[in-house]
Amino acid sequence: MTTTANDITYRLEQKRRVQADFPGPKSIALTERRKAVVAAGVASTVPVFVADADGGIIHDVDGNSFIDLGSGIAVTSVGASDPAVVGAVKEAVEHFTHTCFMVTPYEGYVAVAEQLNRLTPGEHEKRTVLFNSGAEAVENAVKVARLATGRDAVVAFDHAYHGRTNLTMALTAKAMPYKTNFGPFAPEVYRMPMSYPYREENPAITGAEAAKRAITMIEKQIGGEQVAAIIIEPIQGEGGFIVPAEGFLPALAAWARDKGVVFIADEVQSGFCRTGEWFAVNHEGVVPDIITMAKGIAGGMPLSAITGRADLLDAVHPGGLGGTYGGNPVACAAALASIGSMEQYGLNARAKHIEELALGKLRELASEQPVVGDVRGRGAMLAIELVQAGSKEPNPELTKAVAAACLKEGVIILTCGTYGNVIRLLPPLVISDELLLDGLQVLAAAIKANA
Ligand SMILES: Cc1ncc(COP(=O)(O)O)c(C=O)c1O
Repeated sequence: MTTTANDITYRLEQKRRVQADFPGPKSIALTERRKAVVAAGVASTVPVFVADADGGIIHDVDGNSFIDLGSGIAVTSVGASDPAVVGAVKEAVEHFTHTCFMVTPYEGYVAVAEQLNRLTPGEHEKRTVLFNSGAEAVENAVKVARLATGRDAVVAFDHAYHGRTNLTMALTAKAMPYKTNFGPFAPEVYRMPMSYPYREENPAITGAEAAKRAITMIEKQIGGEQVAAIIIEPIQGEGGFIVPAEGFLPALAAWARDKGVVFIADEVQSGFCRTGEWFAVNHEGVVPDIITMAKGIAGGMPLSAITGRADLLDAVHPGGLGGTYGGNPVACAAALASIGSMEQYGLNARAKHIEELALGKLRELASEQPVVGDVRGRGAMLAIELVQAGSKEPNPELTKAVAAACLKEGVIILTCGTYGNVIRLLPPLVISDELLLDGLQVLAAAIKANA
């Protein structure tokens, strides 16, 4: 066991070690079995199978160890086997795995709702409902907004990602791979321009001006009084870790409040200490009417939630919200333990520390490498946008090559972005400084070698 300054203990040695010829034989054999039975539409980034994971390390079935800079897409913020989460799951599962909260309720669900009502922004009276996935939370937030307002239209933004179900596909911007040939899509979804500072035609446009641009379009093309909800990721995830210009989110939220439009912050990826705050909206003091959560909420167990104004959520008739597995008791136990670990380890401070460590290195890289067009993000949700040197032309080929080169050295790195040219860093918040710095130097070397 090793310990960091934050008193985080690790079960597995925190060191990358990969054989030159991975995937090894066991992963190759499993890949063959997989191909025969698992649908091709489910793609995996890494061609090895996992045996164990802890802190910032993933072990595969052939004895390779990888640095995890993806956290299973922002899920394992407390690590993939945080002792408190593992203990809570074991304890819960020994008593009951399921009763269905809609049939026979249990305390864990109520306790998670209490925690979410406490942690989400705003001092107003709140209510919470638990589900299983991020997409399900988004679907339900829209359901509530439509019922409570009696309106139909929903506003989403360029570069948005909200999930893979029918309504959330409609809300998502990018066609391939998320939407192509999966239509027809849910109606009454309108897309508005995002604030994307790096790619604005007018680089001097302020957040307030970018918000005005979107609001004018909403008013002209839909009519404010027709709009049930605006849904937005405070930092866009799959679309490219786009941080809107300061003032954009507050101006949209203020307009929504004025027009009786429900402002939904989709914090599925950015929530739970990821950006150095419990939620990314906190950076600008924005208080959403409804907030959607998943991913980091339960240390890897499937759980999602919506928390919002009591008057909105309580407007729904009994039986209008729910689902067989929503708020599963084992997942609730994991969420309570995970939130406890976030507080105990001080993971907001830890995310800020990761930002300090990594942002400096990434900016240094950008100053040396003209292919690094932009460096952005908050906390441990950081990204670089790769371009053709001397222009802002996206460079998805280089992005792929860099991710592949990192993997070859034992560093798992995820890409994203509308143009497929963004390298995103989402390390577990419990990763040690040494491991993070090792991963970053591998990334820097991969960019230098492939630029
Ligand atoms: C912002 C956002 N919303 C919704 C989702 C969908 O979540 P899930 O994959 O759990 O359905 C994601 C997943 O990446 C996301 O990043």
